[in-house]
Amino acid sequence: MVPLRAVTDFEEPAPATCREGTGEQGAGTHGTGKGLELAFDGVTKAFGDVGVLRGLDLVIPAGQFVAVVGRSGGGKTTLMRLIAGLDGPTGGTIRIAGTARRGLQPDVRLLFQDARLLPWQRVLSNVGIARGPGWKARAQALLAEVGLADRAGDWPYVLSGGQKQRVALARALVTEPGILLLDEPFGALDALTRGDMHRLLTKVWRQHGFTAVLITHDVAEAVALADRVLVLRDGVIADDVAIDLPRAARAAGAPRLAELERRILNAV
Ligand SMILES: Nc1ncnc2c1ncn2[C@@H]1O[C@H](COP(=O)(O)OP(=O)(O)OP(=O)(O)O)[C@@H](O)[C@H]1O
Ligand SMILES: [Mg+2]
Repeated sequence: MVPLRAVTDFEEPAPATCREGTGEQGAGTHGTGKGLELAFDGVTKAFGDVGVLRGLDLVIPAGQFVAVVGRSGGGKTTLMRLIAGLDGPTGGTIRIAGTARRGLQPDVRLLFQDARLLPWQRVLSNVGIARGPGWKARAQALLAEVGLADRAGDWPYVLSGGQKQRVALARALVTEPGILLLDEPFGALDALTRGDMHRLLTKVWRQHGFTAVLITHDVAEAVALADRVLVLRDGVIADDVAIDLPRAARAAGAPRLAELERRILNAV
């Protein structure tokens, strides 16, 4: 479990450049402005002789929503683990809000494909797992945000897969992380539930203002949700694609969106 941090650890406004080109008011301007900048400086990662990440140079502005796509085994989860501090890079530096860090990152939360709820804790206690003063009210408010206000007293096993993911999202947000990492969180959900989760994620991203890094195999999901899509191939960023289309204009079949999708699919 990642240790708690004080909510006041970071109070940085997102740079205005975050939303350039989309014509949108995004997390940095609407939300609490607590997203943190994430920067990679020559980051490499090898397991034994095998280089998985071969030199990443990248800045993700505070509050930006980035999707990372790439082939299976391409190093996406490895990248997430480095950002979260669950593992260290072989070379280079990762900076969060300008500060090089190693070890566990309390400002960073992770959401996985499986919700990983504690089966012996009711829903409210799962959300408020970090406890601290006022945890119950805070957990209840987060449950309301994800549309599960009335399920606080339930055990996790009675929830559907989508509901469990909502609880996991509420739990991830309860300490107001500066960076939220999502590793294929919707991969196991049916298409309708996935659509609901997309809307929910967009809503909470706008409200909370965190920097989002979403790993997905689904290029359509990437272009629907993100400000920017990174293609990870052969251990480097093979393409860096700005999704220069307001979210309201991203209906399936929009020509510009299809064009961006094609470009990304070609790069993967
Ligand atoms: N702890 C480890 N020890 C050795 N090799 C590892 C370790 N973790 C990951 N790898 C290797 O690093 C490569 C990248 O793995 P990673 O899990 O990051 O891929 P991924 O892009 O997330 O793939 P997927 O889309 O299938 O989830 C793989 O070849 C994997 O076997
Ligand atoms: Mg993975």
